[in-house]
Amino acid sequence: MVRSMVSDVEALAIKEENGMKVLIIGCGGREHVLAWKLKKSPLVKEIYCAPGNGGIAALAQCVDIEAADIERLAAFAKEKKVDLTVVGPEAPLVGGIVDFFEQQNLKIFGPSQKAARLEGSKVFAKEFMRKFNIPTAPFKVFDDKDEAMEFLAVSPLPLVVKADGLASGKGVIVCNKIQEARDAVEQIMGQKIFKEAGSKIIIEECLIGEEASILAISDGKNYVILDSSQDHKRIFDDDLGPNTGGMGAYSPAPVITEELLRKIGMQIVDPVIRGMHKQGTPFKGVLYAGLMMTDEGPMVLEFNVRFGDPEAQAILPRMKNDLAEILQSSCEGHLEKVKMDWDKRSCVCVVMTSGGYPGECATGKEIKGLDTIRDNHTIVFHAGTKKKDSKIVTAGGRVLGVTSLGETIEQAIERAYNAIEKIRFDRCFFRRDIGAKALKHLHPAPSQTGMRR
Ligand code: AMP
Ligand code: GLY
Repeated sequence: MVRSMVSDVEALAIKEENGMKVLIIGCGGREHVLAWKLKKSPLVKEIYCAPGNGGIAALAQCVDIEAADIERLAAFAKEKKVDLTVVGPEAPLVGGIVDFFEQQNLKIFGPSQKAARLEGSKVFAKEFMRKFNIPTAPFKVFDDKDEAMEFLAVSPLPLVVKADGLASGKGVIVCNKIQEARDAVEQIMGQKIFKEAGSKIIIEECLIGEEASILAISDGKNYVILDSSQDHKRIFDDDLGPNTGGMGAYSPAPVITEELLRKIGMQIVDPVIRGMHKQGTPFKGVLYAGLMMTDEGPMVLEFNVRFGDPEAQAILPRMKNDLAEILQSSCEGHLEKVKMDWDKRSCVCVVMTSGGYPGECATGKEIKGLDTIRDNHTIVFHAGTKKKDSKIVTAGGRVLGVTSLGETIEQAIERAYNAIEKIRFDRCFFRRDIGAKALKHLHPAPSQTGMRR
């Protein structure tokens, strides 16, 4: 192998002089893994995070500006001569942050406001899928409560009621009984619990199967598909209890075989990127397809327009590419030059939450044991944490994402749960079955393989 002509010291000097300043927007585990991954890039000199959290503060300069404050964020990016801004959460994207930054010649990774409608309006996303023949559940749109109620009376159960707009992950209700469906419609359209986000609703067929997440990064024309992952949305083991932002994830997800991944690329990712381009609203950024693997093939449950949280914590530690280069290529329209390269190991992220989540939960509790994790296959990504004097305290529902790599998924699971044993805070709660579905695919029970005893 030819040795590099540039010494490490020279490389550092080049980075100091030419390296990029990056601003990450958001404060969760997703933003922590983004900072962690970007910190490894030889292209990146300095990282700011607005507003950040207790863990991100060790990697980046945290700036006290909320993710929703688009004008102050742009002013900050200008003042500090930020070279690239990366947006974590959906709300600023749907609010038009990319358009606002670009109008001021600030480079930013993410979709325009029009392209972000794929997440910001479920009605837009479903009608788009219908138009471009992308597999999804049959549906009907309503803007009148009485008409929606009449439709419920003649619809087979189970069915799914969805508010059109952003509802902090609470706008989708899977209904097994007619009364549940009526209550959902009444709450969304009658009581307006999601305000304007519920002025239209979708009623759709309930799909059966296993869920998985496929993320792609696009520059508007070209795209790369990231390795698969699977989230665990419900609060309790065995997928019981209410939906959450995500209680853990792993990558790759064995439910997505190579053949299925090709199919998802051809039937879902490709037509979305082409369709958005054709409509004059090219999609630049992360396209996240939440999928149901049904007997008829993969079907889209919904789109997000950003990295998943906690999917990003399970995917990015396996990415061998330089993330800064990919994000920059997306902004500049040169993604065709990127070839993805993945670590073959498995990665598992187990989310530790504060008791009460996804409802009200206590904050300000000291987190102990973080300094005892010395396993170099494990990284603890912070979500709802804050630095208080010399301590790290809880500051939200999802607190930490304990993330481990392993030669096998079993090893990754074992490492993550071993690390969790060492971390303590008052009323801490986590699922104990993250990764269990992967094991079922890898080691199916004899009855599932058709073998006879
Ligand atoms: P969220 O990502 O928070 O909007 O949650 C949506 C969740 O609702 C998905 O992850 C699925 O579990 C469920 N869901 C949405 N649409 C359907 C559908 N058509 N059939 C079955 N489950 C669905
Ligand atoms: N993990 C689900 C999401 O990011 O929306």
